[in-house]
Amino acid sequence: MNILGISAHYHDSAAALVVDGVPLCAVQEERLSRHKGDASFPLLAIESCLENAGVEPGELDAVVFYERPMLKFDRVLTCALRAFPQSWRAFPKAMKNLLGEKVWMRGIISSHLDVPGRKVLFTEHHQAHAATAFLTAPTRRAAIMTADAVGEWATLSVGDGERWSNGPIKIRRFREIRFPHSLGMLYSTFTAYLGFKVNEDEYKVMGLAAYGKPTLVEQVRKLIRRTPDGAFALDLDYFEFHTTAERSYSSRFVKLFGPPRNPYEPIDLDSAEGQRFADCAASVQRVLEDTVVELARALQRETGLTDLCLGGGVALNGVANARLLAESGFERIFVPPAPGDAGCAIGAALYCDRIHFGNPDRDLPDHPFWGPSVDGSELTRLAREDGHLAEEFQDGKLIDQVADDLAAHRIVGWMEGALEFGPRALGHRSILAAPHTTDMRDRLNREIKYREPFRPFAPVVAVEAAARYFDIPPGGIRLARFMSGVFPVRPEWRSRLQAITHVDGTARLQVLEPAMAPRLHALLGAYERRTGIPVLLNTSFNLAGEPIVNRAVEGYSTFLRCKIDVLVAGGTRVIKRTSLMEKTEVDRIREEVA
Ligand SMILES: [Fe+2]
Repeated sequence: MNILGISAHYHDSAAALVVDGVPLCAVQEERLSRHKGDASFPLLAIESCLENAGVEPGELDAVVFYERPMLKFDRVLTCALRAFPQSWRAFPKAMKNLLGEKVWMRGIISSHLDVPGRKVLFTEHHQAHAATAFLTAPTRRAAIMTADAVGEWATLSVGDGERWSNGPIKIRRFREIRFPHSLGMLYSTFTAYLGFKVNEDEYKVMGLAAYGKPTLVEQVRKLIRRTPDGAFALDLDYFEFHTTAERSYSSRFVKLFGPPRNPYEPIDLDSAEGQRFADCAASVQRVLEDTVVELARALQRETGLTDLCLGGGVALNGVANARLLAESGFERIFVPPAPGDAGCAIGAALYCDRIHFGNPDRDLPDHPFWGPSVDGSELTRLAREDGHLAEEFQDGKLIDQVADDLAAHRIVGWMEGALEFGPRALGHRSILAAPHTTDMRDRLNREIKYREPFRPFAPVVAVEAAARYFDIPPGGIRLARFMSGVFPVRPEWRSRLQAITHVDGTARLQVLEPAMAPRLHALLGAYERRTGIPVLLNTSFNLAGEPIVNRAVEGYSTFLRCKIDVLVAGGTRVIKRTSLMEKTEVDRIREEVA
C-alpha cells in the first residue's frame, strides 16, 4: 500500500511516502526548491519521493494532508468575528489565504497529482504530530504530548499510544488546549518582541536565554496563568496575535517588559538593554519549561507510564526536554528528528496507514535519513571542471585523511548518504570542525555561518565515550540521538571543548551510535586517535538564510562561497589550496589533550 503524506501552507512544507507501512522517503520542500522555510505546496518533494520509490501517482492508495482545512477555516473565522472590530484589517488577508489554497485542499491535491478526490484524506494537525512522535519511536506503550503554536484549534494535546508487534495500534487523545491559549504562541510572541523571526528563530531565544537570568518570571507569569483543570490560559490583554497579523504583542505587553528590540541592531550583552533582552529570554524559557514539566508530570501520574513521546514545535526546545527528563517522572523521552510541522508529513501518512486503513504495526528504522542521496562522483566532476583538486578515496583512507584535516583545524563540509529529514544536521549534511577552542567558534560564526556570536555550536560524540565528556542522565542518550536535549559539559573538559560549550556550561549534543551513521562514527574514532577526544563540532551545512544543502552541487557552491576548507561527498574529497595550515596548531592540541 502506497500512502503519500503532505504538510504544507504554514511553514516548511514537506512530503513523505510510506510503502507497506514503512517510510521510504521524506523531504522538506525547502531542501529542493532552495527557498528557506518554503511553505508552498510541496510539488518538488512529492516528485522526489515518488521518483525515489519508483511509484506513479496512479499507484497511490491515499494522499493524506496533515490537517483539516475546514476546521482551520472555522478557527480563523471564529477568532476574527470574536475580535471584530479590531480584526477587520487582518480578516480579509486571512480569508484570502485560506480561501485561496487551504480550504480547497482536496481539489488542489487531486488536480496536482491527478488522483481521484476520494483518495485524498485528512488527519487533524495534532493527530499527525502525535503519530510522528509515537509511531516512529522504539516504544510499544507511551504517553504522548504534542505542543506547538496552533494547528486547527488545538495548541497542546495529551494522550497515550499502544501498539502490538504486527498487530493493531491505538492512539488516544485525553484532552487538548485550544487557541488562542498556546505555549508556542507565547514563545513566538517573545521571539518577535526580541527582534527575531517568528516560526524560524525560536531557537535563538533559547540560545540567548543562557546569557540572562530569569528575573522577569513573575511578569511572564502574568501572561500565562494555570487553570484549575491543570491547563493554562493566556491573558489576552497582553497579546494581539489573535486579532491581527501585524503584531503579536500589545501595548500592555510593552508597558510590562519595556520597548521591543530593534531587529536591525545587534544585541550588546554588555549593555543594560542587551541584558534586559537576555533576561526576557531566560524568563519566558523558564516559564515554558515549568509549564511543560508540570503538564507532563500530571500526565505521568495519570498514565503511570515510563515512556513519553513528544511532538510539535515546542519539542525542539532541548533545554525544556532535558528538564522533562529530569523532573517529569518519565524515564525515557522520545523526540522524533522532525517534531515540527514538516514531520507531520510522515505522521499523517503513518496515521492513515495504521488507523484509517487498520494496517498492522511495523517497527521502523530509527534514523533521520529519509531524503535524497548525495552523489560523490558529481562532486568530482564539478570540482575537476573548475580545476580544483578532487581525490577519490577508499573508505578507510578517506576517514584518515579527513581526521587529519580536522586535527589540522580545517573546517570540513561533510556530505554522506541520504539527507536528514527535520531541522537538524545529524551527520549527513554537516559542517564539522575541531571543538576545542573559542577561536574555532568565532571563525565559524564570522566566516561561515555569519551569525550572532551568542549562538552556540553543537557537538557530536561517539556513544561509547559520551559519558566521559558530558553529564548525561539516564535516558539522556536517547534524547541526544537526534540532538533533542541540552546537557552539561563535564567541568573538567570545558576548557578543551570551548567551541561547543555554551556560556552556561551546556551543549546540545548528538550522541552517535555506530549503526546510525557508521562513517561519521568511524571519523570520530579516527579523530580520537589523533587528538584523544572523539568529539567534533557539528553544525548544519548551510550559510545563514539558506536551507541545508542537499545535492553535491549545493555543497560545492556553499564551499566556494565561504571559508570551508575541505569538502567531502561520498568518497570524494576536495580541498581549497589556501587551507593548508601549519601543523603546529595540531601539536599544541595534542599536547593539551595529553
Ligand atoms: Fe504544528
